[in-house]
Amino acid sequence: MPSGSSAQAAEAPPRIRVVDLTMAYGDFVIMHDLSFSVARGEIFVIMGGSGSGKSTLLRHMIGLIRPAKGDVFFDGETFWGADDEARQLMTRRFGVLYQSGALWSSMTLAENIGLPLGEFTDLTPGQIREVASLKLSLVGLGGFEDFYPSEISGGMQKRAGLARAMALDPDIFFLDEPSAGLDPVSSRLLDDLILELRDSLKCTIVAVTHELASIFTIADDSVYLDGETRTMLAQGNPRALLAESKDPKIHAFLTRGGHEGGAAPAGVPSGRPTRGTS
Ligand SMILES: Nc1ncnc2c1ncn2[C@@H]1O[C@H](COP(=O)(O)OP(=O)(O)OP(=O)(O)O)[C@@H](O)[C@H]1O
Ligand SMILES: [Mg+2]
Repeated sequence: MPSGSSAQAAEAPPRIRVVDLTMAYGDFVIMHDLSFSVARGEIFVIMGGSGSGKSTLLRHMIGLIRPAKGDVFFDGETFWGADDEARQLMTRRFGVLYQSGALWSSMTLAENIGLPLGEFTDLTPGQIREVASLKLSLVGLGGFEDFYPSEISGGMQKRAGLARAMALDPDIFFLDEPSAGLDPVSSRLLDDLILELRDSLKCTIVAVTHELASIFTIADDSVYLDGETRTMLAQGNPRALLAESKDPKIHAFLTRGGHEGGAAPAGVPSGRPTRGTS
């Protein structure tokens, strides 16, 4: 299996480690034997075809679905082996953007972002409003506090969702298809925001995306889930996978839509790669 850029310090455990994870709905196994690590401060992308189990994997990593087998470790600490209360505490460190976006339509953007702050902090309404404004300005939505989700564009809704995920200052983000359905410019804006979360706030980010432009722009490391064999086929930096993987499925996935012929310069190490044509 090609190794990625996730240079793990020999002493410190990885920020996240998924170990022998089998995921099932009832008797139906979605994926089996997933094992991979996410290094601190990297952007880790979960790739795979539609229905392969990417969102399901994310739900296992944020505590919404208990594994049929295996565990997830954060800084070496068991997540699913912990009791409910301890696990709840661990999830406070997570910022989550769900695939369906899910801003409350009856609430303004400031109210949406204030919701977790009201629930989990002792801040006054005035302070909550201030934090909401700050988070909105961080995603380029300063001044939109009193807008309702229906009054802003899809790209702005995604950014507002990201602002809400940032509300409690998490240090790990889980983002499910953050740029799905966006035009290339909005999608690029969102990718830049995700890179900023990593570079400025030093957060660790796990993102599900099947958009090649995003994958090659943001991913330091990745895992590919194969719906056919129901397990992972590879882990590594997508550019390295494209250059080195002999697996035709991975090659096909990473060369859809004209990326063949060097649009994504293979073998470029992680960091802030240039975007391939899209
Ligand atoms: N609540 C559920 N109960 C039973 N089966 C489910 C449930 N949610 C998802 N599945 C099944 O699990 C499989 C994986 O679904 P999942 O949503 O994780 O895929 P995905 O990779 O995120 O797909 P997409 O790219 O379309 O978002 C699919 O076959 C789906 O039908
Ligand atoms: Mg999904």
